[in-house]
Amino acid sequence: MRAHVVTFGCQMNEYDTHAIQSELAGLGYSLVEDYHDADLVLVNTCAVRGKPVEKANTLLGELRKQKQQRGGHLTIGLMGCLAQLPEGQRMGKKFNVDIMLGPGAITEIVPAIEKGRFQSFEFKSELQFYSPPPPQGAISANLTIMRGCNHRCTYCIVPMTRGDEVSRPAADIIQEARALYAAGVQEVTLLGQNVNSYGLDLGTGMRRKHLDGYPSFGALLRMVGRTGIPRLRFVTSHPINFDDEIMEAIADTPAVCRYIHLPVQSGSNRILKRMAREYTREFYLERVSRIRQLLPDATITTDIIVGFPGESEEDFQQTFALYQEVEYDTAYLFIYSEREGTAAQKHFDDIPKAVKTERLGRLIELQKQLSLQQNQKWVGREVEVLINGAAVEEGFVQGHTRGNHVVMLEGHLPPGIHQAQVLHATPNRLYCRAVGADAPLSQAHIKGGRSLPILPTKGLS
Ligand code: 5AD
Ligand code: SF4
Repeated sequence: MRAHVVTFGCQMNEYDTHAIQSELAGLGYSLVEDYHDADLVLVNTCAVRGKPVEKANTLLGELRKQKQQRGGHLTIGLMGCLAQLPEGQRMGKKFNVDIMLGPGAITEIVPAIEKGRFQSFEFKSELQFYSPPPPQGAISANLTIMRGCNHRCTYCIVPMTRGDEVSRPAADIIQEARALYAAGVQEVTLLGQNVNSYGLDLGTGMRRKHLDGYPSFGALLRMVGRTGIPRLRFVTSHPINFDDEIMEAIADTPAVCRYIHLPVQSGSNRILKRMAREYTREFYLERVSRIRQLLPDATITTDIIVGFPGESEEDFQQTFALYQEVEYDTAYLFIYSEREGTAAQKHFDDIPKAVKTERLGRLIELQKQLSLQQNQKWVGREVEVLINGAAVEEGFVQGHTRGNHVVMLEGHLPPGIHQAQVLHATPNRLYCRAVGADAPLSQAHIKGGRSLPILPTKGLS
């Protein structure tokens, strides 16, 4: 029996796919690279914007065709966020899928396959956590610490697909982190829709209360930081929950990488209010200046939505100005996509496509300029690089710094952590040469040699 899992969407879905794959392996399935070779195809879907939904729709159409060509001998499963929504339920019926399981029901995959007929399961929070065995030979791994979201941003479907926040017991998190480290993992990313409110599953907004027996997110970072893992990351943060205690924990814990992804969504107070983001532009900028103060050199990135209903040119300009003021290292830029069942749906999706695209274009241009400017600040400095494989460019291996800059490192160094000097920067890459024990022979072995000026290497873009 051969299976294939297709993954759309975020890191949480990647983690879930890994869990699904290990459940399948437990049932005796071998995993194949090409779905054409599989007897069972599971589609782990994303519903956050229209595009991934369309992709799932197209793929399910192809799979239905395959199934017909094979006289019905193909089992199709629709999993992930879409499976939890009316839109996905309709899709499942339309394409006649065999299995339908939401993100809270991964551990139901075995009974669903064994029953071999259409199954739809209710969302069950007690089934949400799963400890997949450490991925073989992986240098970096994800670790889910909580699921769901208690915020109610008006454009967002996530609370409907993944439910309210549920934190995972700290002891389980530490145990999984230790297992990953023992398996050779060098970098662990703690995952959650809103990791900053870890352990605060009771109440909402600023009035949240800690659950008994759960540390705060800051305290959790310190605890996981003591497991020995060289690099610890986390996504995603919400500005309203990104408090000083968390920043201090990052500053005090050497393992924690200074990479802060802090979605702002809009720079206009009017739009932030309509989005129900629970903070103002001023509050956000104050958080950023605190980061700059406590964590100098931290990489700061964001998510921005352009074309939210009612966004005027002036509102957009405030977003543009905020981007300039923060000097983001980079950003994920999105065009507003109306989602069925969200509160924002009551607004008319009134910004013409051309205006949305034009605004996105202006932000992309600014992003290129600022990313280059930010990356150039690293030229000549020494950075720690985690090499995770071959590079797309010949003569280099690829990796990333603690600040998450993509690195092209000259030579053929093995996967793992290396020290390097930055020679040259582009908007999305740092070109580096190894230093110290890893330095190329030509430099490290010339006795009494002088240090050469650092020149950009051939073939740089
Ligand atoms: N339209 C466009 N972008 C969205 N996001 C979430 N919902 C929508 C939507 N309806 C973006 C937000 C969020 C990121 C994960 O996806 O910027 O931070
Ligand atoms: Fe969606 Fe807002 Fe929750 Fe993020 S914080 S998952 S954007 S509701």
